[in-house]
Amino acid sequence: MDFVKVKNVSEYDGKEVKLRGWVFNLRKSGKIWFLVFRDGTGIIQCVVLKNLVDAEVFDKKTILTQESSVIITGTVRKEDRAAIGYEITVSNIEIVHVADEYPIGKKEHGADFLLSNRHLWLRSKKQTALMKIRHTVYYAITDYLNGQDFYRFDSPILTPNACEGTTTLFEVPYFDEGTAFLSQSGQLYLETGIMALGRCYDFGPVFRAEKSKTRKHLTEFWMMDAEAAYVKHDENMDIQEGLIRHVIRTVIERNEEDLKILERDIEQLKKADAPFIRMTHKEAIDKVNNKGGNLSYNDDFGSVEESMVTDDSDVPVFIERWPAEIKAFYMKRDENDSNIVLGDDLIAPEGFGEIIGGSEREDNHDMLLERMKSEDMDIEPYQWYLDLRKYGSVPHSGFGIGLERLVGWVSGVKHIRETIPFPRTIYRLNP
Ligand code: 4AD
Ligand code: MG
Repeated sequence: MDFVKVKNVSEYDGKEVKLRGWVFNLRKSGKIWFLVFRDGTGIIQCVVLKNLVDAEVFDKKTILTQESSVIITGTVRKEDRAAIGYEITVSNIEIVHVADEYPIGKKEHGADFLLSNRHLWLRSKKQTALMKIRHTVYYAITDYLNGQDFYRFDSPILTPNACEGTTTLFEVPYFDEGTAFLSQSGQLYLETGIMALGRCYDFGPVFRAEKSKTRKHLTEFWMMDAEAAYVKHDENMDIQEGLIRHVIRTVIERNEEDLKILERDIEQLKKADAPFIRMTHKEAIDKVNNKGGNLSYNDDFGSVEESMVTDDSDVPVFIERWPAEIKAFYMKRDENDSNIVLGDDLIAPEGFGEIIGGSEREDNHDMLLERMKSEDMDIEPYQWYLDLRKYGSVPHSGFGIGLERLVGWVSGVKHIRETIPFPRTIYRLNP
């Protein structure tokens, strides 16, 4: 008899199957007991009836504990009251391992306790649902880009220079070369890739020594950077919008069950799959101030102000055309206003904040060099980056998605520490 996965039991109605996995829950009473079983693909109730199994099998109820590993043999039966629509009538239970008393039970645990037990917490329903949605988001992003002629181009993690400013760099001693920095974003390397391949993306861990304690910041998170030659600012936003809408559709299609487990308002999420709003930084500042905010035209938006920008919108909002002085050195100047750069932040609705940062890049060698000098940057480690503006420079643009921020919004989970298997923050390196 082959092993069957819980997600496929409907194909075996009335047949005997074997399942291997773990005890999610046990309910015992008199002549019948129930073993709620999980195998990673789903959860199904297994019914053990005294008059149908050997006494030795029936008595396993006294040995088994939550999270024990078991191999179940039984018959698949339709059961309309079950969430999955089926149940297993057990004929045999093989115990693989009897688990010690499990530290995570039904009672409420504090966040710190759960995070310290992250290696076990991951087995609970909501955490498993989140990991499945993360898997889909990852898949949907690469699927979309592959379909738009982007090549995967992996950027290095050990780097000689900063991408996003020097205040959040992690330093690593690097042999005789001195100090290396953990990458904050693969963007600068992707700009080299597109000069060979036209369109590229990377997808991997990036690092920021953020001393920030908010629910939106990690010190290690996953970033997808995409970059495209001959794409200008407006088309850059079109690509971002197409990609995010594809992600929403794919998650709704593949993870409806998981979204329900997380109590995500799916109707609200569906509404985000419509044309996104675009407003300039200046318009966004005016909007915030009209609602009682107090920002000047050279300010960035905090979490509260981001929510003020999006709270009357079902779709994400692009804030574009930013003051140069508050954005990174590589962003291209607006032809008509040299104080403005062609950058865009994409702000998710429902208070989830910035999920993408992107821009058209400065492609003029001298203007880029001048900006770098004005910021007192050490030019030498960026010589290769400047070279790209010497050998067949072209207009080009790109953007970076924070995977955990996107998963958090799509899942409706407010704290991004739950959207990555092992979150890293200033306070946590363990497990
Ligand atoms: O806006 P950021 O800093 O942009 C860049 O790094 C560009 N070089 C990307 C590019 O153009 N290729 O970061 C991009 C995204 C943010 O919008 C946010 O979603 C996420 O990365 N992010 C973080 N996520 C979790 N924890 C942090 N500390 C984050 N910092 C940024
Ligand atoms: Mg940003």
